[in-house]
Amino acid sequence: MTKRAFLVTVLLALVALPHVGGAQATGSPLKIGMVGAGREGGALGALFVKAGHPVKFSSRNPENLKGLVTGLGPLAQAGTVEEAIAFGDVVVIAIPYTAMEQIGKAHSDALAKKVLVIDVSNPIARRDGEDFVKTVGAQGGAGLVTAKFLPGARIVRAFNAIGAGRLAELAHRAGEPVGVPIAGDDPKAIALAESLIRGIGFEPVLVGGLAMGRHLVPGTPLAGEHTPAEIRRIAGSLN
Ligand SMILES: NC(=O)c1ccc[n+]([C@@H]2O[C@H](COP(=O)([O-])OP(=O)(O)OC[C@H]3O[C@@H](n4cnc5c(N)ncnc54)[C@H](OP(=O)(O)O)[C@@H]3O)[C@@H](O)[C@H]2O)c1
Repeated sequence: MTKRAFLVTVLLALVALPHVGGAQATGSPLKIGMVGAGREGGALGALFVKAGHPVKFSSRNPENLKGLVTGLGPLAQAGTVEEAIAFGDVVVIAIPYTAMEQIGKAHSDALAKKVLVIDVSNPIARRDGEDFVKTVGAQGGAGLVTAKFLPGARIVRAFNAIGAGRLAELAHRAGEPVGVPIAGDDPKAIALAESLIRGIGFEPVLVGGLAMGRHLVPGTPLAGEHTPAEIRRIAGSLN
């Protein structure tokens, strides 16, 4: 599916979602800066808008995001990466993992001032190359490597292995919510991430510190759609 077709699909799915009472579902609205507004960043940011949070989506070519933000209404804006980071109380990073080092070099001081940086990004062999993925693995995996690239940032990994095309459908699912395994080291950042995740209709499950972030990638037992109890059981078998 092209990116354009994908974003249209996401918007249509969001229109079909039951309204959740805006930011009332999560407490106060928080300004969210999205670094990466492709398939995953676009879909996740749209859920934050739907929950009542002002969101600035970013691109190296912000004019390309006009359709996305127009479709999402007045809470959505588009800007540069720098503008999105400056805007956000919370920053969500959903970019190819190969770009994380460059984001850190350009923006780590600003990111270190945020109460929470949610890292959605993954090293993926298909996209980033086998050698790159091996190098990340040798340094402790996604999580510890994100912390190395973004020194001082209060990082929580989340939403790393739920497909972008499923997010809108799974949010606020009837019955038991879909679990989102998360990993982080900063208690306040974790608590805030948990509140934001609940507000968009999922149940966060803390599986451990950032070092456990290496398990939060596609193709691992925690990847995909699980109930919170399943995530706890799977996480208990990992080391
Ligand atoms: N797709 C999924 O189902 C899914 C699910 C969970 C996690 N993830 C993870 O999320 C990340 C993004 O995946 P995606 O599928 O959303 O990819 P995508 O559709 O290709 O979007 C990539 C985004 O990253 C931005 N980007 C790329 N290089 C950048 C740089 N150097 N500086 C700033 N922004 C940059 C792009 O912005 P421009 O407009 O500037 O090109 C674009 O918004 C990946 O790490 C992936 O593993 C994806």
